[in-house]
Amino acid sequence: EIYEQPGLIRALTKYYFDGEGQETLANISNLKPGRFLVNACGTANYAGLVIKDYIENFNRIPCQVDLASEFRYRNPLILKDDIGLFVSQSGETADTLAAQNLCKQSGIKTLSIVNVEGSTLYRDCDHNLLIRAGIEIGVASTKAFTQQALTGRLLSHALGDGVEKKKLKDKFNLLATRIDELLSRAEDLKSIAESIHNYKGFFYTGRGSLFPVALEGALKLKEIAYVHAEGYASGELKHGPIALIDEEMVNIALVAPELLDKTISNVEEIKARKGIIVVIGPENDANSKRVSDYFFPLNYEGLGELGAVYCNVANQILAYYMARFKGTDIDKPRNLAKSVTVE
Ligand code: G6P
Repeated sequence: EIYEQPGLIRALTKYYFDGEGQETLANISNLKPGRFLVNACGTANYAGLVIKDYIENFNRIPCQVDLASEFRYRNPLILKDDIGLFVSQSGETADTLAAQNLCKQSGIKTLSIVNVEGSTLYRDCDHNLLIRAGIEIGVASTKAFTQQALTGRLLSHALGDGVEKKKLKDKFNLLATRIDELLSRAEDLKSIAESIHNYKGFFYTGRGSLFPVALEGALKLKEIAYVHAEGYASGELKHGPIALIDEEMVNIALVAPELLDKTISNVEEIKARKGIIVVIGPENDANSKRVSDYFFPLNYEGLGELGAVYCNVANQILAYYMARFKGTDIDKPRNLAKSVTVE
């Protein structure tokens, strides 16, 4: 499913830029949200955080991202111009459905970013954007995250982001090419995984759009390799977690061209405490190479805001190989369900 991603991105691009999806986007473009109330669970929630980044940056529309299990019970403030936005692979997650129901009862419009056409969420929402990921079997979601984030980018485009359609379409296709190229280097991630899989714990760190990717990277590792991993904003580590750093802890530092120096200086703080450093970062950055024990280069050139989706694929492959070395059941991890239809 990880390897399906370039093809799925190309198909999504075709569908929404040149195919039937154009009409769906045109309908959505009439929405005038005061705010988006984004609700989702698990990986879909992290995709929601990426989408928030897109909508707030490109459209300057406030987005509030909630864990659906919290939203439904916290007596949330729902305003009449809000639009409920629900992100889900299955469209059957009980908490996400309850959050949708609460929004509907409050009289606001609801919109889904969903994979399964005809699912409960799809039927209950006023509008739907299909992510067209095909059937996802692996319990730990991979390709759905990519398609959800990109569909969120298309939503932001439809709402008027000032970006030329052709430019965005080219960027989507470039992303597919870059992921193809990344996947052709999976052996390099395999050898990093082989070297680090027995360490005690893993901190994934990132800033800005890579913060949700850090959360998702850590989740993937926990889910399929059963090791303790946490995602953290790079600048927040010093407010507590750094106390855990020693020579048995690994920092998977996700580094992007934005805020590069600040992110590297956070990595240096961990290095000074003898943490093992894996940098997944810009290919030509000498500092990224210098601070790392293991370095996996990425070519962010021209990807702009889609860089987060690209970087996430490296995390997927790393988690996959860590799980392989641990000998776990990657597609059906213990204690987890593909679709959580009960509370
Ligand atoms: C379960 C799955 C996750 C998924 C989450 C939300 O926990 O194991 O992979 O992200 O549910 O599911 P949804 O179908 O709503 O995206």
